[in-house]
Amino acid sequence: MPHNKNKIRKCLFPAAGYGTRFLPATKAIPKEMLPVLTKPLLQYGVEEALSAGMNNIAVVTGRGKRAIEDHFDISYELEHQIKGTSKDHYLAEIRDIIANCTFSYTRQMEMKGLGHAILSGEMLIGDEPFGVVLADDLCDNADGNSVLSQMAELYDKYGCSIVAVEEVPLDETYKYGVIAGENIEENVVRVSDMVEKPDPKDAPSNLAIIGRYILTPDIFDIIRETKPGKAGEIQITDALLAQAKQGNVIAYRFKGKRFDCGSVDGFVEATNYFYEKGYQL
Ligand code: UTP
Repeated sequence: MPHNKNKIRKCLFPAAGYGTRFLPATKAIPKEMLPVLTKPLLQYGVEEALSAGMNNIAVVTGRGKRAIEDHFDISYELEHQIKGTSKDHYLAEIRDIIANCTFSYTRQMEMKGLGHAILSGEMLIGDEPFGVVLADDLCDNADGNSVLSQMAELYDKYGCSIVAVEEVPLDETYKYGVIAGENIEENVVRVSDMVEKPDPKDAPSNLAIIGRYILTPDIFDIIRETKPGKAGEIQITDALLAQAKQGNVIAYRFKGKRFDCGSVDGFVEATNYFYEKGYQL
């Protein structure tokens, strides 16, 4: 079927990591299925993708991650049990997602880093631009557009890869990919350099990449050529640097909040935030 090359339809969810910071909870349950209140992190991410018009959901999973596929499927037994009862509404959001998205899955055989996980999704994405969501970064923009839809709007204008960034304290740069570049409009930077997990003294700025990306499909060939970097993993930051050197990456300071739910502190913060925002029992 012909499609508008500029319209981003697909979103990739790398979800094959071990989630060691959340052991023992993540021994048999994928980190992405941990709930903030009653909703798994991955479901928040899929809702965000859908809000940005990306309804073709591609998930990179690993061993022991079958709960993800079961979650985004109909449970006939459960439907039968709760249909017509006062609990029916609990399933409303997930039913809506299932009705409006298609899901495809692939496995990353060896956990060789985020860049490698994204490359594992190549067959699901093909030759078109796509979103990437790391579901353990939970984003919310209470005042309007989701972070991914803000980025999709920016893609319409620039047509190149986009990374979402936020300011972090300098002593935390070692946790992130950090960018340098030149402001081209308010909150938009043309990236000239990026470093994975730098010590504060080597950090080119305090603008850290968070788990939202829009990538152009040439990234796959670049990742294939990318040698393992920090921690012996194939880093998406290193691959993006090659695109940045050609002037083809912008960084966007998004509007909204971001919680690092891969860490216990961030997870608790997110839980309190969403609870206070108004949790409907
Ligand atoms: P993290 O850096 O948070 O690693 O990955 P992790 O293994 O999930 O968690 P910790 O550090 O051991 O606690 C960032 C994202 O990239 C995915 C993860 O699932 C997560 O969404 N990832 C990472 C992969 O899919 N494959 C990998 O090889 C590495």
